[in-house]
Amino acid sequence: MEVNIRRVTPDDADALTAIARQTFFDTFTGTCTEADMQSFLDQYYNSAQLGNELSDPETFCFFAEFNDAPVAYLQFKEEYKSFPMMKKWKALELKRIYVLKEFHGQGIAQQLMDLILDFAKEKKYEVVWLGVWEHNLRAQKFYEKYGFKLSGYTHDFPIGNTPQTDVWLWKFL
Ligand SMILES: CC(C)(COP(=O)(O)OP(=O)(O)OC[C@H]1O[C@@H](n2cnc3c(N)ncnc32)[C@H](O)[C@@H]1OP(=O)(O)O)[C@@H](O)C(=O)NCCC(=O)NCCS
Repeated sequence: MEVNIRRVTPDDADALTAIARQTFFDTFTGTCTEADMQSFLDQYYNSAQLGNELSDPETFCFFAEFNDAPVAYLQFKEEYKSFPMMKKWKALELKRIYVLKEFHGQGIAQQLMDLILDFAKEKKYEVVWLGVWEHNLRAQKFYEKYGFKLSGYTHDFPIGNTPQTDVWLWKFL
């Protein structure tokens, strides 16, 4: 599918908030209580929080747009705080890749993945890493197609009071 990919700016904080909340809700609803979902969305996916992230010049965020509206987004940054052993390498964290469910399976996620991998190669990163919920099999299959492998490390990723475990995947370049 033909989409327009562009960098997201702080002026887009409201649009990013809308798609971030929608896609997070669609992905994880039913895996935690409604109250946990609501408090997680309010804490992490509000315009002030996302606006701050967009104001950080080292955070890269891109929309894929169809008919001038975002249908997917990608966020990445060189950061090590949630997986410090990655400091052994020059490492890029793929923090978020989310496509509206109506647009899954149409090649949009591939275009965003190509973008981050091209960026990583151009900037001489040694590895790209990410966390994915252990039961999110669709996403894991998608990452596997790109050569991401289980690192053998996991971490807790609770949604409110609902415990969840993410696996860390990595792809050495
Ligand atoms: C993860 C995501 C970005 C991938 O984009 P996509 O367009 O769905 O990806 P693709 O369709 O190319 O690849 C998904 C693969 O999983 C397969 N798949 C679908 N449902 C599956 C399931 N329940 N179990 C295992 N594999 C599954 C698909 O068949 C496809 O494989 P194929 O190309 O060999 O047929 C998108 O699904 C998404 O936004 N999901 C919700 C948000 C999310 O989970 N983000 C990642 C958080 S870490």
